[in-house]
This record gives sequence, C-alpha cells and structure tokens, in this order.
Amino acid sequence: MEVIVKNEDVKNIQTDVLIYATTEDELKVIDTRFEKLLTNVVGSGDFKAELNKIHVLYPKDIMKAERVLLVGLGKKEELDLEKVRRAFATAIQALSGFKIKNVAVYHSNIDSFQESDIITCMLEGIILGNYRFSKYVTENKEKILINLQKIQIVEDDKSIINSLQETTNKLKIICENVNFTRNLVNESGNITHPDMLENITKNFAKKYNFKFKVLKEKELKKLGMNLLLAVGRGSPYSSRLILVEYHGDKNSDKHLILIGKGITFDTGGLNLKSSEWMINMKDDMAGAATVLGMIKTASELKIKKNIAALIPACENMIGPNAYKPGDVIKSYDGKTVEIIDTDAEGRLILADAITYAINHMKPSIILDFATLTGSIMRTFGNFVTGLFSNDDDLSNRIYSAGQKTFERVWRMPIYDEYREDIKGDISDLKNLGPKEYGGAISAAAFLEAFVGKTKWAHFDIAGSAYFEKQKFYIPKGGTGVGIRLFVELLKEL
Ligand code: BES
Ligand code: ZN
Ligand code: ZN
Repeated sequence: MEVIVKNEDVKNIQTDVLIYATTEDELKVIDTRFEKLLTNVVGSGDFKAELNKIHVLYPKDIMKAERVLLVGLGKKEELDLEKVRRAFATAIQALSGFKIKNVAVYHSNIDSFQESDIITCMLEGIILGNYRFSKYVTENKEKILINLQKIQIVEDDKSIINSLQETTNKLKIICENVNFTRNLVNESGNITHPDMLENITKNFAKKYNFKFKVLKEKELKKLGMNLLLAVGRGSPYSSRLILVEYHGDKNSDKHLILIGKGITFDTGGLNLKSSEWMINMKDDMAGAATVLGMIKTASELKIKKNIAALIPACENMIGPNAYKPGDVIKSYDGKTVEIIDTDAEGRLILADAITYAINHMKPSIILDFATLTGSIMRTFGNFVTGLFSNDDDLSNRIYSAGQKTFERVWRMPIYDEYREDIKGDISDLKNLGPKEYGGAISAAAFLEAFVGKTKWAHFDIAGSAYFEKQKFYIPKGGTGVGIRLFVELLKEL
C-alpha cells in the first residue's frame, strides 16, 4: 500500500472514494469546490456532520472521484485528535463490501490543530481501522476487508507537502507494525509455539541485519535460568530465551532493553484456568509480539539508538513434568521462589529475563511488556495500560507519550506493604501475594525485586493488548497497543 500527499484541486482527484471530513460548523460554509455536490444534501438536512455520521454521494460530472463519503467531525470546539482517528475508522469501516482499492482523504478547515497531527490521525483511523485478521477466512473475504492499495492525502498548503509526505511515510511504517503485532497475537495457538517466535525473530533479524541469539534449554540449564525452565516443563515444546539487537548508535554500548512476556499459551498449569479465563490465552505472548513490533519499527524508522528485545518464550501447560504448587525454585538471580500458584507464571519467566539483561547487556533502561494479571483488567478494563516504574521522570514521559497517542497508561504504586506480600515463608520470595486483591501490584513488586537500580518500567497490558469486541480503530483480538506509544516515547529518551 502506498500513501501519497498531493497538492491538487480536490475536484480533480481520481479515486474510488474521496473521504471528506467536516465539522458541523464548516459544513455551514460550504467549500465552493463542493457547492454543487453538497447544497442539496445540506439543505435536506440528511447530513449535518454530527460526529461519526456518514453519507455517501456519487458526484458524477462534478468531481473526478467515483464516490464521496462525507464523514462528520461534530462541533468544532469539541473536536480532538482521537475523534479524528475514530471518525476515519468509522468511514473506512462503512466502506467494507464496496468495490474499492484506493481512497483519497480531504478535510475542511480545522485550525485548532497542526495539520501534520490531523493527517496522522486520519491515516491512523484508516490503516488501523481497516485491519482484519483474515488469514483463516476462506469465504467472502472481500466482504469484510478492503484491500487498500493507495491512500491519497489531498493537501491545499503547498509549502508543507514534503514534510507531510515524510510524516506519512513514517506513519505508514508505524501502523503496519501495529498490524504486524496484531497478526502475531491473533495467530492460532496451535501454530504459535516458542519455536515459531524464534523463527519469526530469526527471519527478520536476518532481513534487518540484527544481532540474533537464542538460548535453548541446555544453555538455560547451564546458566541457571530455572524459573523460565520450570514454567515450560509441562509442554512438549521446549522453552527458550530469544534475543535480538538493533544498533542504531554505533558510538554507545548501552541498550534500551525491551522484554516481552512470551507465554505462547497459558492454561494456568496445574492451577488450571476455568474455561472462561482460558479462552483468550493464546494472547499471553502479546508482550513478545509487542517488543518485536517495536524493535522492527525502530529499525525501519532508522532510530539512532541501541535497542534490544528479549523474549522468554514457553508454554504453560499441564503434564507429568509440569511444575507444581509448593515447588521451590532457584532463580537465575539466585533468589529462591516458592510457587504458590502455577498460573502466576509470567513474573517467573520475566524475572529470569530481567536478570539476563542486567548480567549480560548493559541496560540503560528496561521496559517490560506483559499480559501479566487479571487484576489489571479488573482495574482498568481494556482502555488503560497499568504502568509501574522505579523512576518518576521515566514514568512522566511514558504518561505523556500515552496521552499523545491515546495509548493511555496510568501509573500504579509499589509500596513496602506489597513488597512484604511476596516475601516467602520457606524461600526468599513467593510467586503470589493475596489472591483476590492488589494482584497487579504484587506482581509488579515481584518483578521489581529482580530489577535492582536499573531504570525500569513495567507495562501490564493484560487488558489493553486484546479486545473481545471491536472498538473504533481497534479490532477484536490483538490491539497492537504500545507500538505507537513507544515511537512517541523514543523522541523523549
Ligand atoms: N496471563 C494471565 C493474566 C491475564 C489474565 C492476561 C487475563 C490476559 C487476560 C496470568 O498469567 C495469570 O494467569 N494471572 C493470574 C494470577 C493468579 C494466579 C492470581 C491472574 O491475574 O488472574
Ligand atoms: Zn497465568
Ligand atoms: Zn500468563
């Protein structure tokens, strides 16, 4: 798919459909170029540009576009950039089933925002809103998916065409990587195993010239990464630690380290989940998919930083070898951990990965992404990611990046009382605090125990990484949350 910014009379744009977005206020002063087309529509009151309302017109002899899709942006003073994203998602979704391959977009005057921000959000609405996981659909595929080949942005201000083109080139990369991450999360659980995560990583490491390494069970055993090994013991698919490095800054040996939870399926282990909680557990590798999407994006954007992605990957299954409640296991760090609940497995594999990063990789910052707790989902539902950090400044930057991209985060505290909750009785730590309450916090406190003084932030994406219902530009299934936030955050690190 290509995205082209054009300075051309909107009447002369050749396209299957021109999406024209306008506020209620601007509709009243009809753009002269749309006069013939819109006078009757506006007069009839059929379209008033209320937010997310749409109307299709066939502008034969008036414009070169085959169709014009009007989309309302509501009242000018109430407009914000998220509404622009959602309106364009509504628009593109309204076109499903239409025989179209390319769209052009144009908006009436919106002076309250920067043009590049408006265009960014329009495109995000379209590209992210047009996503479907359609790999396994064999019938009537065209009814659910527009196979978009070209998006033309019609821009009146000639002086910003070049910079807008640059902005949109980057944006296309970012959105395609959001969709890459979504695809990985949505892939069927009988396909996604630790070896598949390894192969995907290896393939793009080769393509992008990344340093790539994988530690298999023999090496994990030698190093003493027993927590990671324990979690994977019930599965016939062997556990591993996958590692890729992107060197955008040759003058430094420091790394921004991204760690992603790579549980390719979470049955809960011997503390087996109920059907209700197991159904979506192929998504328990969303953290891994996210950090892969991030490092791929960073390299495609040629970011001048060293970034590494580290994925502890295994399957939490039951079987004769499965780890058990009551087992005491020595972590790579040396601390002993009593297993209270085999379903609190994410923190175990992340702990060993964090230690690996600290011992071997000179981290400047560690960011971890994990579908870690049901507790965070009960707290925030789907629309906020739980953030935990040992650094106020880092937290504030992450918060701002979340606001800007609408991938919102909210920081939660880690207080001593929660640290107490995970102290062990017969071991240094236990892998579960009080079962019912504050679970996202005690899980974060567990990770913190392995982080030491390294700057660190933990993103609990259990709610935000996977939607059970489609919402605006976020599809049902994997959301790809975090990628856009990360790109924004990189500007600040
Ligand atoms: N993978 C789950 C967390 C999860 C829940 C992710 C819902 C996505 C949606 C994690 O491994 C887990 O099972 N956590 C348990 C811990 C339990 C033993 C208290 C939880 O939070 O429910
Ligand atoms: Zn679990
Ligand atoms: Zn899990």
